[in-house]
Amino acid sequence: MTYKTLLVDIKDKIGKITLNRPEKRNAYSPQMADDFAQALDDLRYNDDVAVVVITGAGEAFCAGMDLKELFFGLKQNNPKEYDRISRVVTASRGRTLRYFPKPTIAMVNGFCFGGGFPLVECSDLAVAADEATFGLSEINFGMFPGGQVARSIANIMRPRDALLYSLTGRTFNGKEAADMGFVNFSVPRAKLEEVTMSLAREMTDKDPAALKATKDSYRFSLEQSWEASMSYTAAKEQEVFVAQNGGWLKNGVGDFVEGKYKPGLQSHTGVKK
Ligand code: ACO
Repeated sequence: MTYKTLLVDIKDKIGKITLNRPEKRNAYSPQMADDFAQALDDLRYNDDVAVVVITGAGEAFCAGMDLKELFFGLKQNNPKEYDRISRVVTASRGRTLRYFPKPTIAMVNGFCFGGGFPLVECSDLAVAADEATFGLSEINFGMFPGGQVARSIANIMRPRDALLYSLTGRTFNGKEAADMGFVNFSVPRAKLEEVTMSLAREMTDKDPAALKATKDSYRFSLEQSWEASMSYTAAKEQEVFVAQNGGWLKNGVGDFVEGKYKPGLQSHTGVKK
């Protein structure tokens, strides 16, 4: 797996995607859009990967869309290619990442602007460095947070924060991002990798079908009526039952009934067996 603008490492069932244009603050270029879509496909079908972590090389997580190559370049000079890349971005970052079948964590190490926000929002979990700098800078160059960014901030930011930061272009740091619930928590940058990987490891031994159902049930229930959600999750329960050959009931619950472990305090590591 080699990509022009990404590094992808797999270790201990964790697939780590590093946006790797540090000299350009990991601005999301057309090449990066194609690479990211490919990397998500590669990790999706790789059985050695249970959890995906997304981060950036150097000082930045992602300085937003590449204003030079994508907007100043393609948008003006090659509208068809601009349209193709926009579709790739929407499909990969907006849909594939959001509904990725394995848990995903954004590890926000530094600058995160505009188009970097959907990477954080569409990941299931997010951990930031205290020192990271977030900003909706669009207003500073006479634009507004449109497309996926608009939807991302509406999904995950508190209404007052979304409007405050997008109307003013003010920045906020990792600690503030945690206080407002944009990330789960923040830690000093020196501890970021260790803490994030430890969080990822909490999920690598859990049952993959149950992890996927957890995500699907949460995300799709948000968009469904109460009745539809009850029906959908009942069907999901059957899906998990079949995928595990009845494992959660037979072994997950069965071993508790036999006094072998306490699921309130421990995780069963082999419900499927
Ligand atoms: N698009 C294209 N190139 C970028 C971007 C970007 N979003 N961000 C940084 N770069 C490039 C710079 O142009 C520079 O390239 P050069 O060396 O060829 O001149 C290089 O990355 C380093 O950038 P500096 O500005 O020198 O780095 P510094 O650490 O001082 O500042 C910062 C980093 C704050 C991220 C600054 O580069 C910046 O303001 N970037 C734009 C952020 C932004 O507004 N992003 C768009 C959000 S809106 C959207 O995504 C739809």
